[in-house]
Amino acid sequence: MSEHPHIPAPAPLVTDNEAALAEGQRFFEKMHTRRTIRDFTSEPVDRRLIDIALATAGTAPSGANQQPWHFVVISDRKVKRAIREAAEAEEREFYNRRASEAWLDALAPIGTDADKPFLEIAPYLIGVFVRKFHLDGSGERVKHYYPTESTGLATGLLISALHQMGLATLTHTPSPMGFMNDIMNRPASDRAFVLLVVGKAVRDAKVPDLQRKPLAEFVSEISAGTPTKSR
Ligand SMILES: Cc1cc2nc3c(=O)[nH]c(=O)nc-3n(C[C@H](O)[C@H](O)[C@H](O)COP(=O)(O)O)c2cc1C
Repeated sequence: MSEHPHIPAPAPLVTDNEAALAEGQRFFEKMHTRRTIRDFTSEPVDRRLIDIALATAGTAPSGANQQPWHFVVISDRKVKRAIREAAEAEEREFYNRRASEAWLDALAPIGTDADKPFLEIAPYLIGVFVRKFHLDGSGERVKHYYPTESTGLATGLLISALHQMGLATLTHTPSPMGFMNDIMNRPASDRAFVLLVVGKAVRDAKVPDLQRKPLAEFVSEISAGTPTKSR
């Protein structure tokens, strides 16, 4: 047994199989209506909604429980403008020079370009950072394990929680994102991961007509009798 204290695990939320299936179905249907929104209103959003979503993000599993993420919540108009200017400068370079033909082809159905007005219009921007290490009491670097994977999981929970509360999100990755460290005062231990735009969608918001892969295309199965290399 571990010398470190262990406590009883929380009880499962449902135990009855049919109730579990109904819960799963309800959750799937909610998540199925999540779409990336690119047309936001400037209508304010109650800050408590942002905080509860961030608290949800903080429940994510993480490598060695190092919780290697940092979120910067921005509502200040001047800072949002600075972010828009920096992001659009990078995006102009990206669309005009840096992006490969193949990358531009992949983006074509989404219909994005270098203009990012939503960065100023939406009430909140959340800068998400991967924390690669922290400094211990004597200033020594303590490496984090799987920080990118862990931050990805936390960001997924954040997006899900915001969606659950009826808020719209856009996962934005201006390329490259180094400017986020400067504008958001993040130290060298933190690497910009995504810029999440949060608010309410305009009434007639349109989204690209994209299809999600059916389960059979992204799930395979190994059950009793399936031959594998290790057998
Ligand atoms: C890692 C990542 C980076 C993304 N970067 C951008 C981006 O920079 N700009 C943008 O408009 N959408 C971006 N998206 C949103 C995707 O285009 C979107 O999730 C995808 O087209 C599927 O659409 P849906 O989110 O509506 O289901 C990004 C999504 C992810 C997960």
